[in-house]
Amino acid sequence: MKIYVCPTYDVMSKKAADVMSAQLILKPDSVLGLATGSSPLGLYGELVERCERGEISFEKVTTVNLDEYCGLSPDNDQSYSYFMHKNLFDRVNIRPENVHLPDGTNTDAEAETKRYDALIASVGGVDMQLLGIGVDGHIGFNEPADHFSVGTVRVALTESTIEANSRFFASEDEVPRYAYSMGCGTILNADKILFIANGKNKAEILEQAFFGPVTPQVPASLLQLVADKVYAFVDAEAGALLAANHPEEVILV
Ligand code: GLP
Repeated sequence: MKIYVCPTYDVMSKKAADVMSAQLILKPDSVLGLATGSSPLGLYGELVERCERGEISFEKVTTVNLDEYCGLSPDNDQSYSYFMHKNLFDRVNIRPENVHLPDGTNTDAEAETKRYDALIASVGGVDMQLLGIGVDGHIGFNEPADHFSVGTVRVALTESTIEANSRFFASEDEVPRYAYSMGCGTILNADKILFIANGKNKAEILEQAFFGPVTPQVPASLLQLVADKVYAFVDAEAGALLAANHPEEVILV
């Protein structure tokens, strides 16, 4: 795994944007797997600016997002669909029909998980998957469990995730308890994985995920199995333990 420890969130965002831009330049019709959360906001801002300057184009790009809350419709401002439109899709030249997320309003979990897997297969799989990490080690919304998911799943969010994500809601009670998430198997099958994390609350879980045992209790630890295709950009706070305890394994940006 290539782990790049960047001095600041801004540098992390710019470097990650460089990598994603290179992907779009090399393969203009890329399928991008996209993520939500605070971590990718800077990266999305950079991509918007580069698109405005004509340096990159989303004209032929297809996107599949990692996850969506169950019960929230796209016009709900807490939905991941809303987040993606606000922070990226509505600000670049992507075709609306090429944008895909799980449908949080579909109450038939079996139908929705099958639909999303079929959709990902129909676009030929993911060329570059953007990935963040939850404080409990989740990727997408694949929470710590006793097994790894393969395809899309409906997951019950853990208390730690509900608490962490409550900062975006009026109260903790309003955080949905379930979500649809792309499966760990699909995430691992992406051609390349662009991983980002920032902030000191990610430092411990990053060391566990990258250097601890590979276990479904830390879903992100799976990335060790596909280390060759993972490019991890973290800021100095998130990367503090990586840099201190595994200096040979990190690249200081
Ligand atoms: C959320 C999302 C994840 C994201 C993670 C980290 O729950 N489902 O896909 O990677 O939490 O979020 P943040 O970047 O805000 O720390």
